[in-house]
Amino acid sequence: MDNKKFNSKLKMFISFFIIALVFSKAISMSPRMVKIEEFREMETKKSQSKYLASTITVDDKKRSIVNNPDDNLVLINKDRYLPDGYKPKDLVVPDVDFSFDEDVDKRYLRKEAAEHLEKLFKAAKKDGIELYASSGYRPYERQVELFNAKLEKDGEAEAKRLVAMPGQSEHQTGLAMDVTSREIKFLLEKEFEDTKEGKWIKDNSHKFGFIIRYPKEKENITLYSYEPWHIRYVGKDAETIYKEKVSLEEFLANK
Ligand code: DAL
Ligand code: ZN
Repeated sequence: MDNKKFNSKLKMFISFFIIALVFSKAISMSPRMVKIEEFREMETKKSQSKYLASTITVDDKKRSIVNNPDDNLVLINKDRYLPDGYKPKDLVVPDVDFSFDEDVDKRYLRKEAAEHLEKLFKAAKKDGIELYASSGYRPYERQVELFNAKLEKDGEAEAKRLVAMPGQSEHQTGLAMDVTSREIKFLLEKEFEDTKEGKWIKDNSHKFGFIIRYPKEKENITLYSYEPWHIRYVGKDAETIYKEKVSLEEFLANK
């Protein structure tokens, strides 16, 4: 190749390189380019129902953060976190019997849930059922303590099966209450389901807007061990959830 030919080829190559460079820069600066975070959010949303997808935002750590933490139907589970620092604004102490005496966080529930819990406890008493509230609202920091204690005692797999990770506990929403009875020594144990109080809770909670949040036959969906003592306020949809025998996950996936 003579010099002239070589120079013209070189010029062509350089021009092509510059054009490609300018073009790629223009594309990367285009406002319509989808950022990687947006792409991930879109992918996460595609794999859920439209309603559930509309209730989360994916953060920069790829965590799904619920954007409706104050909603009675908020879904918190192993895939969905409460926003950092979330604390309900309308916490009150329900007028019911407790299994402890101190005025601590776990006495509190959100107002509407507390009012319905009072109705539930009153109706139970009428039927000769003595219930005791054991644990309601739980701040993030307390969940950290509980999770770490379980982790140390029983290891990671067992801790994750029984205790929610901090930021993923329904107790932080102020919509959940653990309920117990004298017969099981005010403990939170599976045997609660066999007591008359446990049976009453299972058969009647829905009339007051509560559901058994972690049912025995739904462990593969909720990813938590059966908790006959953990009731969660959802409002009037509790009736449908009860009648259709679905988990909250299944109910909301069809909403
Ligand atoms: N035991 C329930 C899952 C919680 O820790 O919130
Ligand atoms: Zn609970």
